[in-house]
Amino acid sequence: MKMTRMFAGAGLAAVLYTGTFVEGAEARSDKAWDKDRSNQTINIAHRGASAYAPEHTMASYQLAKNIQADYLEIDLQMTKDGQLIAMHDTTVDRTTNGTGRVKDLTLKEIKHLDAGSWFNVKYPEQARKLYEGLAVPTLEEIFQHYGRNANYYIETKSPTLYPNMETELLRLIKKYDLQPKRRSLHSVIIQSFSKESLLNIHEQNPDIPLVQLISYGSKATISTEQLQELKRYATGVGMNYRMIDEVYVQKVKEAGLWIHPYTVNNRTDMERLIQWGVDGMFTDQPDQLKIINRMQMRMAR
Ligand code: G3P
Ligand code: CA
Repeated sequence: MKMTRMFAGAGLAAVLYTGTFVEGAEARSDKAWDKDRSNQTINIAHRGASAYAPEHTMASYQLAKNIQADYLEIDLQMTKDGQLIAMHDTTVDRTTNGTGRVKDLTLKEIKHLDAGSWFNVKYPEQARKLYEGLAVPTLEEIFQHYGRNANYYIETKSPTLYPNMETELLRLIKKYDLQPKRRSLHSVIIQSFSKESLLNIHEQNPDIPLVQLISYGSKATISTEQLQELKRYATGVGMNYRMIDEVYVQKVKEAGLWIHPYTVNNRTDMERLIQWGVDGMFTDQPDQLKIINRMQMRMAR
């Protein structure tokens, strides 16, 4: 992948947020991170900074890094030849110029696709020439590029389609030395709507924090029994923020689980959820959450 393609979003970040823009410079000591985090809500860049760059491309992840989001959120699919790639859908249709199921395409075939131009057409106000022709990254390329200089919030998508995806994910986490270490912040969190997928991972590696995603069709409630069952294998839960209220948040927190709602893209909702006590949230606009976190830190001084 060409450097120009990988860092298409860097200029845009300077407009969005006047922070530190040195690529790869955010490797902080664990102590520093802990200090920064006190009083703050974990900022999870959903599919990267996907409001401003094509989701799940290196441009989107780099923009999230420039904004200094705490985690890069990565959805996983698996190619016909067993490679984990960053993609939300089971087909390439929506986010590339190709068609077909990921499981029926080889990595070589997927690498020929343009994963950026659709964004310029759909969001002309955010369009950038550099987004044209961006490639679909593999998980390994993302790990190779950022290593321990980023934190990853990874979702096993459609695990029933890809029987070996958990084993391959754990292999890459180990290869790139991203396993939890004593007293270190979590380099990797794994999330899934599939309990089976999380249990599979928990069995293979009980040290990696797991977040159970829960789908609610109406107002969310959760019982003490459900919370106890979740605590057997999960460190936290995630759900659509529109379905929860303060009582739900408190119940989850009292059980000792993290709560990370998705996908929160306006400041009023962010502030309300912070007031309710959520530990973190997924957002397409990590720059907005960054601003709120900074304001809260100033007010707390
Ligand atoms: O992982 C949290 C959230 O991303 C789940 O929804 O569909 O965007 O993967 P989705
Ligand atoms: Ca996701």
